[in-house]
Amino acid sequence: MSKGKILVTGGTGYIGSHTTAELIEAGYEVEILDNLCNSKVEVLDRIEKIAGVRPKFYDVDLRDAEKLAGVFKSGGFDTVMHFAGLKAVGESVEQPLRYYENNVGGTINLLECMQEYGCKKIVFSSSATVYGVQDTPKYVETMSTGGTISSPYGKTKYMIEEILKDVTVADSAFAVTILRYFNPIGAHRSGLLGEDPNDRPNNLMPIIMKVAKGEIGELTIFGDDYPTPDGSCVRDYIHVVDLAEGHLAAMEQMGPGVQIYNLGSGAGTSVFEMVKAFEKASGAELPCRVIGRRAGDLAEFYADPGLAKEKLGWEVKLTVDDAMEDTLRFLRTSA
Ligand code: NAD
Ligand code: WQD
Repeated sequence: MSKGKILVTGGTGYIGSHTTAELIEAGYEVEILDNLCNSKVEVLDRIEKIAGVRPKFYDVDLRDAEKLAGVFKSGGFDTVMHFAGLKAVGESVEQPLRYYENNVGGTINLLECMQEYGCKKIVFSSSATVYGVQDTPKYVETMSTGGTISSPYGKTKYMIEEILKDVTVADSAFAVTILRYFNPIGAHRSGLLGEDPNDRPNNLMPIIMKVAKGEIGELTIFGDDYPTPDGSCVRDYIHVVDLAEGHLAAMEQMGPGVQIYNLGSGAGTSVFEMVKAFEKASGAELPCRVIGRRAGDLAEFYADPGLAKEKLGWEVKLTVDDAMEDTLRFLRTSA
């Protein structure tokens, strides 16, 4: 018997697909809603290969309130895991209205349906970006948010967090868990799932993958003059399978009101160290060139993951080296 029925929005995407596989393997029934704007329907075959069950799929856009209501009418969901959203920071600066409409507008439609059809548990994919600029690089959940966010993308995450908090004030039966991810990387150990964006990627790992495949000539490293040990920026890279397990742990501890957790490793890795780790795993040199700083980049930040460990019993098990090995397996499988 299923342990519960979960609707995963954005479930054919990078993090949603890994989480779906973990949920099915843990005994949950999962249905996926995605408009496929940044993922492919073939991901469903791959989830089936891994978990033995093909999740029911709705090719629906969250902004289509009528179709969304149809999903909830027949759904009977216990919980929604809400991954769907646009996530390219630079693009959001050029197209702010598209980001607010898709991410904030889509979430409002989703919450309205949840309210109407009596599904009152939601786990939301937020981001370390909501902390903005802080005095120290180690981000803890009690820090202020929203004040110094540099992109419309980041502001959509902050706005959605605030909307979710207001919803629980108005309806005390609502249970909200906000997960602030640091920098997800890696792929499923089977090599069947990984990050495969439809457009040109912006994040470090998918760009490294494209350079390794020869689709991009070189990795341009954004600055080597930061006040960090080797001059390049430092981030907290978290393996996507650890992240998926964090969702499971968080969902199983949900109660009324709002809970907020950082999901990160607590350790920082520089861009140069990421390049070295990839080269070690692949055995080949990665063409790189240092160029100037990218606007908006912070020198260094990483998670304080203590709260998730204390309350959820969750912490990362996998390393950056594991992520590189799994990424290479995904590259070979998807080639
Ligand atoms: P992704 O692009 O791979 O997955 C998002 C999915 O949502 C895609 O499959 C896309 O087709 C779908 N989608 C987008 N808008 C939709 C809409 N209006 N209706 C239906 N489906 C829609 O991204 P991801 O890396 O898996 O990220 C998942 C979530 O985690 C996003 O909300 C993202 O902002 C957040 N997040 C990601 C990172 C990261 O670095 N990957 C870090 C922090 C937070
Ligand atoms: C990582 C490091 C770059 C590309 C963003 C969002 C954040 C979250 C994760 C969603 C940085 C360097 C990158 C390249 C490089 N996403 N880099 N050359 O900026 O830490 O975080 O993604 O919520 O909100 O802001 O991630 O992968 O873009 O960059 O040198 O071609 O790699 O300078 O230090 P970032 P990233």
